[in-house]
Amino acid sequence: MNYEGINNESEGKHMSKTPEKKSKIATMAEGELHPHVLIFPLPLQGPVNATFKLAELLSLSGISVTFLLTDHIHGRLNRHTNLQSRLRQYPGFRIKTISDGLPADHPREGNRYMELFDSLKAKTRPLFKEMLCAYEDSPPGPVTCIISDGILDFTGDVADEVGVPIFFIRTYSPTCLWIFFCLPKLVQSGELPFHGDDDLDEAVKGVPGMETFLRRRDLPEFCRSGDITDPKFKLYAAEGKGLLNSRSRGLILNTFEELDGSILAEIRNVCPNLYTVGPLHAALRTKLKSSETTPFPSSSSNSLWPEDRSCLAWLDKQPRKSVIYVSFGSIATLTKHQLMEFWHGLVNSEQRFLWVFRREPLAVKDSPTEIPADLEESTKERGFIVGWAPQEEVLAHPAMGGFVTHCGWNSTIESVSEGVPMVSWPYFLDQQVNSRFVEAVYNVGLDMKDTCDRVIIEKMVRDLMVEKKDELLQRAEEMAGMARRSLVEGGSSFCNFQRLVNDIKKSSSSRVHYP
Ligand code: UDX
Repeated sequence: MNYEGINNESEGKHMSKTPEKKSKIATMAEGELHPHVLIFPLPLQGPVNATFKLAELLSLSGISVTFLLTDHIHGRLNRHTNLQSRLRQYPGFRIKTISDGLPADHPREGNRYMELFDSLKAKTRPLFKEMLCAYEDSPPGPVTCIISDGILDFTGDVADEVGVPIFFIRTYSPTCLWIFFCLPKLVQSGELPFHGDDDLDEAVKGVPGMETFLRRRDLPEFCRSGDITDPKFKLYAAEGKGLLNSRSRGLILNTFEELDGSILAEIRNVCPNLYTVGPLHAALRTKLKSSETTPFPSSSSNSLWPEDRSCLAWLDKQPRKSVIYVSFGSIATLTKHQLMEFWHGLVNSEQRFLWVFRREPLAVKDSPTEIPADLEESTKERGFIVGWAPQEEVLAHPAMGGFVTHCGWNSTIESVSEGVPMVSWPYFLDQQVNSRFVEAVYNVGLDMKDTCDRVIIEKMVRDLMVEKKDELLQRAEEMAGMARRSLVEGGSSFCNFQRLVNDIKKSSSSRVHYP
């Protein structure tokens, strides 16, 4: 049996397991096991970030946690965060690594991220199963429950095969999950497929709960291809169908009831057991602040890139609510033309700005372009550019007045929970519908999708920071208040998290047996 690719960090050795040992497991797997949850996030920045916070929260609730990272992600976290010192704060929390099956130099991003899914399914799945079996008589003991990203559907098959209860987590938006679920219905009713050059403002009526505001342009970008046999379309339609997955004990979502209540009600019609426990980053912060035993860490960063913290000192020097933060997350890339439009628009808006200009993968598709001298000069006057920022701290900074964002779900919910209004410019997947919700449902920002013009950017930024500042800020602060209240004792996310902890503990007594 080949165990290559499974590495136990705390023991520093590769694990192995013989079939004889596996049968021994079957006899010891009943009842009275210490709750031990194995958590497997999708190996991308946003999902790793949110899921890690859930793992820390569970660890603080007395559950042993094994956090499973691909070698690639693990290497980056080790290089760019205080991972090791943070782990020492959590007794019973351990990291394990597993191969994602891709060569070391594979970019794992942009247009090639689909290859990651294929590889995980084909190459990581058997390693995952072997690892679960191998845990039976190695510390900290048998895995009594799995939490994995719902898109890694093979983990559900493996959980079934080895008899371990499983919960799924989705770290993108619940609103998009609901759209994924409705994709087959949209095809049946003829609302899909359509093409990118059709009328994108046409209403989409077939997504319950969104009938009054959803347009074609708010659906994930792959819906515009006109081709429902596209592998991306198939992957996400199957992902939505996962809501019906009866093997899952429940679905964990990084949102709170007061934000997404109407859509959560729709999701509950097909998947009744939801645990809305977000915003996870703020939940962890709240828990750590109230903890008498665990020291508050200097940073809870899960960044896969080195953070440039000099921007915090720059922010300290700026007036209250005067800076617009610009970041398009970990995957999106701009063309040279888009870069110049954003740059001109920002400079012409005459607002202070902090811009994350990722170096790797480069934020711009082609090689860097010549920067006109006047742009450089204006940037020096009122701008600050970094390769990667400590985003949670940036959004919580008193100088923060607005966020130009791609509307990745983590960025969106981080912004919502800090009361920072947004201009949203979505790139792909859930970002299109998140952007619509930001403007039309949450009322905390302006949707700028499908345009990238310096004049519009300038206007949107001015609207956000000047013309509509008061109304947007007021609404954003109301939302942030709701988020905070959901996390304290008696709040919706607080209670849902307690229920999750109890259900995980209960599930340890319903572990069955290995084959
Ligand atoms: C991806 C998808 O793009 C997104 O649509 C989906 O909802 C989640 O997975 P990503 O593009 O990385 O995520 O965006 P996002 O979800 O916003 O996550 C980015 C994370 O990186 C955030 O938690 C943010 O705090 C962090 N970040 C971003 C930094 O710490 N520093 C930065 O400079 C930029």
